[in-house]
Amino acid sequence: MTLEEKVGQLVQVASATEKNAAATDASGARLTDAVLARIRSGEVGALIGACGIGNYNLAQRTAKTSRLGIPVMVGHDLIHGVLTQFPTPIGISCAWDTNLWYRAGRLIAAEAPLKGCDWTFTPMLDIARDARWGRIVECAGQDPYLAGLYAAAMVRGIQEPVGGRRMAACLKHYVGYGAAVGGRDYDEAEMSVETLHRIYLPPFAAGVSAGAFTVMPGFHSLNGGPCSANRYLLTDVLRGELGFTGFCISDMGAVWEIGPKGHGIARDAVDAAAKCVNAGMNMEMTRRSEFCFSEGLAQAVRAGRVDMRTLDDRVRDVLRIKERMGLFEHPFIDEKPAVDLEAHLAFAREAAAKSVVLVKNAGDVLPLAKTAKVALAGRFADSAHEMRGAWSAYFENVRNPSVRAGLAAAEMALAETPAEADVVIACVGESQKRNGENRSYADVSFDANDLAVVREAKRSGKPVVALVFCGRPIVLTELVEAADAVMIVWNAGSCGGWGIADVLTGRAEPTGRLTVDFPRASGQCPIFYNRMATGRPYGSGRFCVHYEDVPFEPLLPFGRGLAYTAFAYADAHAERQGGRVLFFAEIANVGKRRGTETVQLYVHERFTETVRPVRELRGFEKVTLEPGERRRVTVEAALPVGDYEYFLASDSRADGVRGEVK
Ligand code: NOJ
Repeated sequence: MTLEEKVGQLVQVASATEKNAAATDASGARLTDAVLARIRSGEVGALIGACGIGNYNLAQRTAKTSRLGIPVMVGHDLIHGVLTQFPTPIGISCAWDTNLWYRAGRLIAAEAPLKGCDWTFTPMLDIARDARWGRIVECAGQDPYLAGLYAAAMVRGIQEPVGGRRMAACLKHYVGYGAAVGGRDYDEAEMSVETLHRIYLPPFAAGVSAGAFTVMPGFHSLNGGPCSANRYLLTDVLRGELGFTGFCISDMGAVWEIGPKGHGIARDAVDAAAKCVNAGMNMEMTRRSEFCFSEGLAQAVRAGRVDMRTLDDRVRDVLRIKERMGLFEHPFIDEKPAVDLEAHLAFAREAAAKSVVLVKNAGDVLPLAKTAKVALAGRFADSAHEMRGAWSAYFENVRNPSVRAGLAAAEMALAETPAEADVVIACVGESQKRNGENRSYADVSFDANDLAVVREAKRSGKPVVALVFCGRPIVLTELVEAADAVMIVWNAGSCGGWGIADVLTGRAEPTGRLTVDFPRASGQCPIFYNRMATGRPYGSGRFCVHYEDVPFEPLLPFGRGLAYTAFAYADAHAERQGGRVLFFAEIANVGKRRGTETVQLYVHERFTETVRPVRELRGFEKVTLEPGERRRVTVEAALPVGDYEYFLASDSRADGVRGEVK
């Protein structure tokens, strides 16, 4: 390969299209001659932006005519579906269901070809401890263990072979991006090496072990080193400690951003390219006209700033992934891929029902009686738009998204006014416009008008069920007081209306559990359950860790989620078996309906050299029981030898049982 051809493999450009009468793509648009010329001359390793099947195949045909005939990759953010959208990642994380996450990945891989895409910039594995940070919507919450399970399941689903080809997943944003100070997107993050390894790296380690083909370093700097040019993170940790053998793609414009107008550690394009490539970056995702690799990398090599062997390593990583994706043998997408969109809608409905989290149900107002007359209130009752959530460009396979449509399809009697109804359902929360990239808010209070809607509904004397649309934790303190029942429904996707109605009517049971703490006040952020033990433990006493004006605990903790029945725990104990520790408990359904309990295992390691978290999730099991039924449940946690205290509970702070591992 010539130097220019090597550099070309490390360049990703926008899949720029323009309307063209000769277009072979259904959209009527065609890749521009400029892009095609660059592909033909070997200057392009990948495109960004799903461009349709016709354009995808045109790009590959053009790549074949280049001197070396190396196929290109086409990447895009397909984070919670493509044409069919299941709930946003924060929503689907609340299902605590690895098989559901795997199937979500399969859905993305099945639908992506329809849009001319073979690489998705997902799963996002940032740990989110601060509700002010708007990108919580894209990740799996605050727990490293759970996010690791999510990572592995999604990667397996996305990368499973389909007809000789494999889609590429991308673990992002490596690493600590969610720890931006003050919850401000793009801001710096600082943490100890211990916190990095204990909290932020485990989901990436799980994704790498599952075989993820690519990793995207974050925009931010960690402990002073911009991630894009951070040799410790990209080489020592990612490749050395975690054993990553794929390639790193920069975030958009992030290579350029280490330059004078950004982090300020590089002088110009040559310097930025050299610093990033030497640190371990493979490919540059460009923005507008800010190109460093195409403009500066060859020069950096000629000037001896980047060793040819280093460049070869970076190129080899990219070629190896293209080979593992099957692109050399099968560069083209089938013009008519067989995709079962009906089955995907059924999946979206199931996923929506499994993602909602019931957090209050006073007087068992839910499930709705079959004969109940329901009045709808609130600004999201008729909204299809608010079912979408961030990154929904291809939301097309939509059947029945609004709550009203879902209830109507469930044949519920809909009343015009609360006065004529037996129950009022208020659809409130946070507009999807308020979350996603660069949507940080200092104040995550609940919307005052929405609260007024709920209070007004309450004045009718009818029980009020609040459905909370959101993409991040918001302060629900007053809402939880005002409403009789509260269900977090997130942004529920293509069949959100059906899935939500399934749970409201009891056709499906509520099984979702929170994966983030919901604070009582914005000032409690950051807030997370796995905080370190302290010398003066938390509590309301004079010398305890607390605020004087707000209780220490979150309003709704990680792990919380109600069923339509109740469970009791008994006879819990733990046994060591070789290197494994098994936890046992007898769980009984002591309510009146069939229900599923998520038995959660938290451990606290004691008498260690350094301080350990007060609690860490180390396993969970789901058990479905008929009323009166009881069953012995085993939860296995792979724990190293040590001295542990444990908690087995449906909710990390409430009932359940506690003991010691001997
Ligand atoms: C910027 C975002 O940070 C990243 O998550 C995304 O993959 C890229 N843009 C490409 O859209």
